[in-house]
Amino acid sequence: MYDFFMPNVNFFGRGAVKVTGDRCKILGAKKALIVTDRFLSQLAGGPVDKVTDSLTASGISYVIYDGVEPNPKDTNVLAGLKVYQENDCDLILTIGGGSAHDCGKGIGIAATHEGDLYENYAGIETLTNQLPPIVAVNTTAGTASEVTRHCVLTNTKKKIKFVIVSWRNTPLVSINDPELMVGKPAGLTAATGMDALTHAVEAYVSLGANPVTDAQAIQAIKLISENLRQAVAYGGNIEARENMANASLLAGMAFNNAGLGYVHAMAHQLGGLYDIAHGVANAVLLPHVEKYNIISNPRKFAHIAELMGENIDGLSIRAAADKAIAAIQKLSEDINIPSSLRDLGVKEEDFELMAKLALEDGNAFSNPIQGKMEDIITIFQSAY
Ligand SMILES: [Fe+2]
Repeated sequence: MYDFFMPNVNFFGRGAVKVTGDRCKILGAKKALIVTDRFLSQLAGGPVDKVTDSLTASGISYVIYDGVEPNPKDTNVLAGLKVYQENDCDLILTIGGGSAHDCGKGIGIAATHEGDLYENYAGIETLTNQLPPIVAVNTTAGTASEVTRHCVLTNTKKKIKFVIVSWRNTPLVSINDPELMVGKPAGLTAATGMDALTHAVEAYVSLGANPVTDAQAIQAIKLISENLRQAVAYGGNIEARENMANASLLAGMAFNNAGLGYVHAMAHQLGGLYDIAHGVANAVLLPHVEKYNIISNPRKFAHIAELMGENIDGLSIRAAADKAIAAIQKLSEDINIPSSLRDLGVKEEDFELMAKLALEDGNAFSNPIQGKMEDIITIFQSAY
């Protein structure tokens, strides 16, 4: 048996942002809390302006909270909650990438649940109350938080990134408009694209994989391999952007059900302790974790190599599987992802603590090899 969580409704395509106001109206909203970051809120003619135009046309009033930071903090959630409550909002409208969506989900949880988000709700299906309606307008091809039940936040006191996984978190409406992704800087495109690749690869080899998630992960890996370089090289390449948006959506649906693995479990520690961008942390760890995972399913890794454009003709399954690791490294290198944890300023003395916390992270339990603390430390060392 397997369960399968799906997004409620996702609008996909060039110009899809125009449906935002109408969908908020259909949900019965009177006043929306827009959750975003300062860069987007100040960008003239950008995604926030496009959304507010659509809201105004549909007669929905709104207030903007633009304090979302990368690796969104519990403090961001509380500040957004204050704006939500003081303005009697009845809908949460997130605009941005994963940080905005996760912060918006956090605000929805905090508005409807007593107690501390980390102490009381970190974990799987811990939420007991219905959240306010969430509409997520997505502007990056990466986290897929606009369609998932995952809410990843940072506990600022403990410097820990934690996950609240619940079907109640899933936005009621999500919008993926590739035109909102055009012109995103190369570094951000590269990091978010590698996050999407990590979702697809981890979901494909996960202990929770099933035929539906395999189909999604396979198509996502293929699309990313064929389009990420082009999207990084020229941000205005709308075709590459659209293919990356489709890949991100597919990979998101895959991991929303199959789960992830040690890459995310370990990357969360780098995000919590060093505030390293999520996609970059994943990209650096991905080849090292998958090298460790390879013996769990050489056939799937050989398939990944093929999907990523490697020629595996005449090779044994095991030799072809190795080519997947090389293909991931080549992609990272081509799009200028830092190659080591050392380059990111990580300190070796933190490996032990991070390894312990990684094994407690909710994503660790679906990794295809259930290892020990020494294994995680060794992976950190090889990525160093
Ligand atoms: Fe991720």
